[in-house]
Amino acid sequence: MSPPTVSPSTLVVSAGRPDRTQGAALNPTLVLSSTFVSQGVPGPDEPMYARNDTPAWHAFEEALGALERCPQPALVLGSGMAAIAAALSLVPPGGRLVLPRHCYQVTLGYAADLTQRSGVRVTLVDIADTDAVLAAVRGSGDDGPADLLWVETPTNPMLEVADLPALVAGAHDAGTLVAVDNTFATPLVQRPFEHGADVVVHSVTKYLAGHSDVVLGAALAADSALHARLHAYRTLHGAIAGPFEVWLALRGLRTLALRVERAQASALELARRLEAHPRVVSVRHPGLPDDPGHTRASRLMDGYGSIIGLRPAGGAAAADALVEAVRLWVPATSLGGVESTLERRRRFATESPTVPEDLLRLSVGIEDVEDLWRDLADALDAL
Ligand SMILES: Cc1ncc(COP(=O)(O)O)c(C=O)c1O
Repeated sequence: MSPPTVSPSTLVVSAGRPDRTQGAALNPTLVLSSTFVSQGVPGPDEPMYARNDTPAWHAFEEALGALERCPQPALVLGSGMAAIAAALSLVPPGGRLVLPRHCYQVTLGYAADLTQRSGVRVTLVDIADTDAVLAAVRGSGDDGPADLLWVETPTNPMLEVADLPALVAGAHDAGTLVAVDNTFATPLVQRPFEHGADVVVHSVTKYLAGHSDVVLGAALAADSALHARLHAYRTLHGAIAGPFEVWLALRGLRTLALRVERAQASALELARRLEAHPRVVSVRHPGLPDDPGHTRASRLMDGYGSIIGLRPAGGAAAADALVEAVRLWVPATSLGGVESTLERRRRFATESPTVPEDLLRLSVGIEDVEDLWRDLADALDAL
């Protein structure tokens, strides 16, 4: 294990390396085995069967645990949604869940499914409105306190920023667990356990793996009993990660600090220029001084991320025309890859109805910022 005192940008390089013995490989071995030699009663850390546990996961799990400053290693799962399902399994049948109204749309869909299947009562909130969130967490009348508060900050796709320490303190006062989807920020920019969160999930598919070639998720819990519940969920539900995906994700993680630094700088520069463009109605990016999330993000985050919310003049048709017109930006869903992508979120019927029809979500990659700007500006000028 790497020394815990080094900075996150060192940890991404140094964590999860094999022991330094003479002749040892620098990188972890790709373990392709579904089963392991085993007889009698296996010890708790003994590899036995690769759905329960495999050394193929350990280096990445150790590295992500260290990056999130979590006392437990991460648990890799087959996708971000598998990690979210694992975390949401902490809400009992008939329990209460408080969820940001603008969080990732499939998380909203999963919560609706939980309501249908097991009577989970869901309250949707504006996660930036701390008083309203905590009122929903405490509940009223026959509604007891919520079992779980789900936080996304910044939210996908609206980029609202939550007051995470205030939410955690208020939720814990009410006896409510707090889970944070830290996909947008990455542990380089925001570490929810430092604010007292109980569970953190990631779509590793995005920034952590970073090359749009892997679908993978991870869940972390600071408390060993919660960690054990998530681990048991993974084993029972079988939503496990393939060894090669995890190996690729660790390889991607090694450059996370450089990618995030570059993409964040470009995103802020592009957001500033977009704000001044005559064909733009509004821009959301927490790095812009007049953004509603700016003060909070400056206090709580080590950066502002590299997602931009853009509403071009001319409504949804103009937004679609812009997506059509760009040549370098890739029209695609997902985010957090080395390449810049954009999409109009309401093209999905399942996206929250309070997300504006004309909102484009831009994920800024690591290309030259002037090339990115020229492509966008040309497309805007042509509207
Ligand atoms: C914030 C956020 N969380 C979770 C997910 C789900 O991750 P995956 O696609 O890896 O299942 C996504 C996917 O877009 C996301 O944007």
